[in-house]
Amino acid sequence: MIATAIEPPALHYEVKREHSMPHDMRKALCEFSQQYPAFNALSVIVDSLRQKDYNRLDASQTVYLDYTGSSLYGTSQISLHTALLTNTVYGNPHSDNPASALSSHAVEEARKDVLKYFNADPEEYAVIFTPNATGALRLVGESYPFVRESTLLLTFDCHNSVNGIREFARSKGSNIRYIPIKRSNLRLDVMVVSGYLDKMSAGVPNLFAYPAESNFSGVQHPLEFIAQAQQKGWDVLLDAAAFVPANKLDLSLWHPDFVTISFYKMFGYPTGVGCLIAKHSALSKLKRPWFAGGTVDAVSVNGDGYYYHEDCSAFEDGTLNFLSIAAVPIGLQHIRRVGITAIHDRVAMLTDWLLKKLSSLRHSNGVPVLRLYGPSNVRMRGGIVSMNFQDPDGIVIDPGIVEHEAAEAHISIRAGCFCNPGSIETINNLSVKDLYQFFHHTEPMSFEDYVAFFPGKTMGAVRVSLGIASNFADVYAFVRFAETFIDRYMQELERSCHNMKSTCRSSC
Ligand SMILES: Cc1ncc(COP(=O)(O)O)c(C=O)c1O
Repeated sequence: MIATAIEPPALHYEVKREHSMPHDMRKALCEFSQQYPAFNALSVIVDSLRQKDYNRLDASQTVYLDYTGSSLYGTSQISLHTALLTNTVYGNPHSDNPASALSSHAVEEARKDVLKYFNADPEEYAVIFTPNATGALRLVGESYPFVRESTLLLTFDCHNSVNGIREFARSKGSNIRYIPIKRSNLRLDVMVVSGYLDKMSAGVPNLFAYPAESNFSGVQHPLEFIAQAQQKGWDVLLDAAAFVPANKLDLSLWHPDFVTISFYKMFGYPTGVGCLIAKHSALSKLKRPWFAGGTVDAVSVNGDGYYYHEDCSAFEDGTLNFLSIAAVPIGLQHIRRVGITAIHDRVAMLTDWLLKKLSSLRHSNGVPVLRLYGPSNVRMRGGIVSMNFQDPDGIVIDPGIVEHEAAEAHISIRAGCFCNPGSIETINNLSVKDLYQFFHHTEPMSFEDYVAFFPGKTMGAVRVSLGIASNFADVYAFVRFAETFIDRYMQELERSCHNMKSTCRSSC
């Protein structure tokens, strides 16, 4: 947080127009290739895709580093979907007319393909289409049969769409517990998790929800927690939204009760479609709070009753986004073409290089330029790097300024708390007492009030995230930005101070 009232400096970046690779970058690429000899072989498909399917990135000189916000679609996905829509007469499903049957068929094919992609046995799992991961999480939250003795167990680094499930648990008087993450590396302590898993009442429904990958730190929590929790009697919800875009989730190896996903985070297009992959046995425990068109076999007005469909459509409210769902197999095929292992390994190498470079940046007085959050290497860590810039006195620079200045340099990064308040509270070591006091005001409070309540703390960070089309030039551009940003920032700050002093003197 900037401790002065001085206007943030306006920095000026020269956008590189030449297409040839600058000398410094060529040298860095050479070192990178020596450090990561496997990278080039893995990149054959991505390099050609980058020219064909992601040409818009280089054509617009955009450095895209917000894959956890949304992945990018390949233009071939759009062409294939357009061709499908152009040549097929899709109607509203739920009927036997030919146009309706084509849509129903497309939806069922997409369901099968999602199961196949995740290696999920159709005898064990069902796919329920939702508008996004949040829709899938809500579906579980609102239908989970919480009772007073139940426990909802979450981790501190859950996304708000998982945190929100606690309000359904609270309405039933259930216990709500959070497992803390370690401040040093934002990981969970395995022994602590085990202790929390022991704290529950047997014989009632208990739900443990955690992210396979934190969208704040990139930490990948052990999938072994799934079986460990289930053996103790928990149902397990794995929020896989940030994990699956660059990692293989094999549901023949891991057997969570519920998995939540947004497809645009995996392959960029379509937006507006996600899914809940759920065990049939887990679905049968859910009690929906209402019924809607599409979910019921029979309803009576006079008889005041209804019967749900027996299959997963009992969980799909109203008309599905059937045109977009038809694009899901195209997206899955796009990932298969590149190979999820290749995506994972490339992202890991680029992230490793990025972490090493960023952690080595120092001010002339030896103070690190960046506070990097999370583990220092890529072991069980995805392609997400969250950080804050700090000046030579260790004062954190407003992440919003960094995001703005990166935008000037055509770099798309994200600033904020990324809907992950528990991670922000952990890095800032905020006291429970203070947080409780702030969040129990009777009148509504704004984010500005929140920031003002914790002076000297930064309630956000800057996030860089990598994905399917990331290449060396992208991470190099961010490292160059980081190297030069702080110097320019300090120079501009000094200039602003100087101008302010002379204005003050002349007006006095
Ligand atoms: C880990 C995680 N879970 C859930 C969500 C919610 O996804 P959506 O906004 O697509 O519903 C996000 C979104 O960023 C996420 O990163």
